[in-house]
Amino acid sequence: MTPYLTERIRLVDKALGRYLPSARTRPATIHEAMRYSVFAGGKRLRPILCLASAEACGGEVEPALPAAAAVECIHTYSLIHDDLPCMDDDDLRRGMPTSHVKYGEGIAVLAGDALLTIAFEILAGAKSTSRYDIGAFISELAVASGSRHLIGGQVLDLEGEGSEVSLNATQLRYIHESKTAALLTASTRLGGMSANVTPARLAALTTYGKSLGLAFQIIDDILDVTQTSEKLGKSAGKDEATAKSTYPALFGLEKSRQEAARLTRKAHEALKPFGKKGTRLHELADHLLDRDY
Ligand code: IPE
Ligand code: IPE
Ligand code: MG
Ligand code: MG
Ligand code: MG
Repeated sequence: MTPYLTERIRLVDKALGRYLPSARTRPATIHEAMRYSVFAGGKRLRPILCLASAEACGGEVEPALPAAAAVECIHTYSLIHDDLPCMDDDDLRRGMPTSHVKYGEGIAVLAGDALLTIAFEILAGAKSTSRYDIGAFISELAVASGSRHLIGGQVLDLEGEGSEVSLNATQLRYIHESKTAALLTASTRLGGMSANVTPARLAALTTYGKSLGLAFQIIDDILDVTQTSEKLGKSAGKDEATAKSTYPALFGLEKSRQEAARLTRKAHEALKPFGKKGTRLHELADHLLDRDY
């Protein structure tokens, strides 16, 4: 972990700690469960991308914090629901028992719902800029998280599970772009929007986010095959056991690695307009490609 990432995680965690109701707020169970999953750990990749994108556009960290916290709340909700017995049925997440193991299924569903909802409450506290009003921020996050993107991807992922006929490359890419790359792209775009990004640079952040997001899910698929549960903090080998459609399953490990590297190069290229200001985003792209958890 680099000093930059450590400092960013601290900053994001502090903001999340402020935005989320205390664990003693009534009814305590739900607030405890929300905090349990949010503060179980996690790389905080989405909020860090959001802050780094704001800075690449010449903005400050402070105005980007509501968006950064909001994307992490959406992400954590999606993990709680992804782990449910009716979805991927996992009992380990971020190195801890999953929400439904700890609190029961009912509270886990509700903790996910509450994190999804509070994301928009937090984002509503962001400040409009001359190019982007609050409606634009809210719509950005809603569309990325909704049935045409994140949820849509989860639907296809679920429907594809255990299927005898494997998906083709286009279908698989579509799932990964929807369930994962859409929220990563929204994270970079919202960071830019908080800094009043120009339309041309917003397009550059979009290309960066999409390429990086797809590479990220491909690497997640690879790590599921190559790493241990201890290292990942979640159960490894799950995708093969449940016959999920993944990049390694369809193309093998080597081709999957090559595709992740190609997409990372594409992400780097998209950053050209930012010059030196894009340094952190370049570093993050390399870091994500090289990660082992
Ligand atoms: C895991 O995301 C789920 C995917 C979309 C691949 P992360 O790998 O970012 O999970 P945390 O936040 O670090 O736990
Ligand atoms: C999860 O994908 C994507 C979302 C939660 C939207 P995975 O099912 O591959 O994530 P992990 O491997 O459980 O973290
Ligand atoms: Mg899943
Ligand atoms: Mg899963
Ligand atoms: Mg996975």
